[in-house]
Amino acid sequence: MTDDVLLVHGGNPLEGEIQIRGAKNLVPKAMVAALLGQGPSRLRNVPDIRDVKVVRGLLQLHGVTVRTGDEDGELILDPSHVESANVADIDAHAGSSRIPILFCGPLLHRLGHAFIPGLGGCDIGGRPVDFHFDVLRQFGATIEKHPQGTYLVAPQRLHGTKIELPFPSVGATEQVLLTAVLAEGVTELRNAAIEPEIVDLICVLQKMGAIISMGTDRTILITGVDELDGYTHRALPDRLEAASWACAALATKGDIYVRGARQLEMMTFLNTFRKVGGAFEVDDEGIRFWHPGGELKAIALETDVHPGFQTDWQQPLVVALTQATGLSIVHETVYESRLGFTGALNQMGAHIQLYRECLGATPCRFGARNFQHSAVVSGPSKLIGSELVIPDLRGGFSYLIAALAAEGTSTVHGIDLINRGYENFMAKLRDLGAHVELPAEQLATI
Ligand code: EPZ
Repeated sequence: MTDDVLLVHGGNPLEGEIQIRGAKNLVPKAMVAALLGQGPSRLRNVPDIRDVKVVRGLLQLHGVTVRTGDEDGELILDPSHVESANVADIDAHAGSSRIPILFCGPLLHRLGHAFIPGLGGCDIGGRPVDFHFDVLRQFGATIEKHPQGTYLVAPQRLHGTKIELPFPSVGATEQVLLTAVLAEGVTELRNAAIEPEIVDLICVLQKMGAIISMGTDRTILITGVDELDGYTHRALPDRLEAASWACAALATKGDIYVRGARQLEMMTFLNTFRKVGGAFEVDDEGIRFWHPGGELKAIALETDVHPGFQTDWQQPLVVALTQATGLSIVHETVYESRLGFTGALNQMGAHIQLYRECLGATPCRFGARNFQHSAVVSGPSKLIGSELVIPDLRGGFSYLIAALAAEGTSTVHGIDLINRGYENFMAKLRDLGAHVELPAEQLATI
C-alpha cells in the first residue's frame, strides 16, 4: 500500500463553488503541438496537474524552453532549438503518462528520429498502442522496439496517406493530426475520434498554419504544409473534471457551482444527469449542479465515443447511481476493465454485480472476449466508510465521492494519483465543506 493517505469523514453535502481550468486531455497535447512550430506558442488556462509537469519535463529535455507567462495559468513554449535528448533522461519518464507517444510525429519532423519511453497511464484495460505505430509506419517511419522503449526513424520526409482506424481512438487520431500536418501531401483519416479535445487540438493546429477539414462522417482531411508557426490559445475547459464534481454534488445531496464548465461539451452528460434526477442550471460563467431532493432514478447507461456518454464520466456517475432507486444498467464499451473499481463500492455497502455479457443496446468489442464490462447497480444503498486503495484517476475520484457520501470515516490510500488530473483537489474539497484530513504521521513529514 502507498503511504499517501487521506482520511475522509463522510455524510455531509458538498456545497459551494469551485473553478475548473483547461482540459487534462487537451493541454498536454497542445503542449506537444508547440514542438511543430518555428516560433513560440502561448497556451492559456493550463491547470497545475502532474500530466502537464511530465510533458513540460519531456519538452525541456528536447530543447524546448517552457516558462510561465504573465497571466495565471499561461505557459510560453519556445521550440526554436529542438534537439535530441539523452535516452537515459527520457527513460526516467517511463511509466509516467501516455502522452510521450504523441512526441513521435513532431520529433520525426524536427529531428528525423525519436525515442519514446515505456508508457504509463491509468490501468483500465490493456491500453495497446498498435494503432499509433501502424499509422506512423504508413507515414513512412521505421520503428524498432527495445526493452527500454521504442526507437523511430524517418530518413525522408514523412508522406501523407489514407488511414482507417479500427476504432475511433482519441490518441491515434491525435497521432495522425500531429504527424500529418507537416507530412508531404494529403492525409485522409477515416473513423477518427471527434471528442471536443480533438476539435480543440485541430483549432490549435489551424492557428499554427495547418490545413485540416472535418467531414460529417468521422473523416478528417489534412493537407500537409512545409512549415508551422507558434500559436496563442486558451484551452477548452475540463468537461471530465466538471462532471466529476457534478456527480459529487448528486451523491452527497449537495450543491456545487462549477465555474468554467461549459454546456456545449457536456450536453450528453447533462441529459443523463437530468434523467437520474439531478438538477443543473447553466449561465455564462459555469454550471450549477445540485440534488433537488426526493429520490434519484435508476437508468440504463452505455458509454461510447463522442458524442456518446464519455467513459471518463462513467465511474463518478456509478457512485451516484448507488443512491438511485431501482436497477441501473451500465455497459462500458470503450475500456474493457473500467468497472473493477466497483468491488470497493460493494465493500462500502453498494450492490453492484458485474457481467461479461453486453448489457446494452449495442453489442461491443468486449462481449465475445469475456471481459467483465457490464454492471447492474441496485439502489439505493447506504454507504459506510471503509479502507480504500485508489486504482486509477477517475476510479480514485469516485472513491472520494463515495467516501464523502458514506457514513463514518474512510481511509483512502494512494491519494496522490488524483493530482494527475484534478488541480488542487484538496483545496477544492475543503472549499466545498468536505471533512478531509491527512493522518497525523503524514502531517509530521510535511
Ligand atoms: C484518451 O485515452 C484519454 N487520455 C482517456 O482519459 C480517455 O478515457 C480516452 O481517450 C477515451 O476518451 C488522454 O487523453 C491522455 P483511446 P487514449 O485511444 O487516447 C483502444 C482519463 O481518465 N486502442 O481513445 O489512450 C483502447 O484500448 C483518461 O482522463 C487500441 O486498441 O484512449 C481503448 O479500448 C483515461 N489500440 C480504445 O481504443 C491503440 O493503439 C479507446 O482508447 C489505441 C487505442
